[in-house]
Amino acid sequence: MAIPLRNTARSYGLISQLFHWVIVALILFQYTWAWRISNTEGLRARFELVTQHKTMGMMILSLALLRLGWRLFNRPPPLPGTLPPWEKTAAHATHWLLYALLLAMPLSGWLYSSAAGLGDYWWGPVRFPGLVGTSEPLEDLLGRTHQALGILLALVAGLHVLAALRHHFLLRDDVLKRMLPPWRAR
Ligand code: HEM
Ligand code: HEM
Repeated sequence: MAIPLRNTARSYGLISQLFHWVIVALILFQYTWAWRISNTEGLRARFELVTQHKTMGMMILSLALLRLGWRLFNRPPPLPGTLPPWEKTAAHATHWLLYALLLAMPLSGWLYSSAAGLGDYWWGPVRFPGLVGTSEPLEDLLGRTHQALGILLALVAGLHVLAALRHHFLLRDDVLKRMLPPWRAR
């Protein structure tokens, strides 16, 4: 059966699922590139990796904004009625924190690059201007902010993954399946 584009009462639709998994893949790319950058000596090779990291970051920012727009007009399927209220609250709070981090991560990276004098940036035909003037103390602060947010995102996403696996393997409900395109959508 074809997967509906919009969310239904029982499942996420194809658009929400695509947003979710494409952004997950790009975030993994970002961490891999951050790791590669820190293990690369040559200035030129490093510069290229940082540019790719910035491009992907801008892509994530754009996709996150589109995803939030789609989310506002597409209520997610309700969580199983068997879940205690505190678990539903925890799930919703985690999701909104993840959305906030999907914006805060690229924005802090963009601000950080701007303070380092590398913020004025072309992404294909689109120009992203520098957001703040060049400043070493600000660069230091924003670099640390970007790093701290990176750690926070990894921790919250880790918790989110454990919760998804718990639903699937321990509670044996449909919460994970309804985010997976091939299996279910009604
Ligand atoms: C969701 C998007 C992003 C994620 C998950 C991410 C993640 C990270 C992580 C984990 C680091 C390593 C931090 C450290 O240990 O010091 C890093 C470094 C960095 N990020 Fe991002 N980032 C994102 C978006 C961006 C964007 C949009 C920009 C700029 C436009 C950017 C610019 C940088 C720069 C300049 C560095 C330092 C690289 C170096 O060590 O020279 N990031 N990022
Ligand atoms: C960087 C990693 C991730 C981020 C930023 C992220 C973000 C999100 C967000 C914001 C939502 C809420 C969607 C909405 O209702 O509007 C969500 C839902 C969901 N995510 Fe993730 N996710 C990540 C990784 C994963 C992974 C690896 C899994 C699977 C193991 C997963 C499984 C799910 C499931 C099953 C839902 C639906 C929960 C429900 O129906 O209430 N996520 N994710």
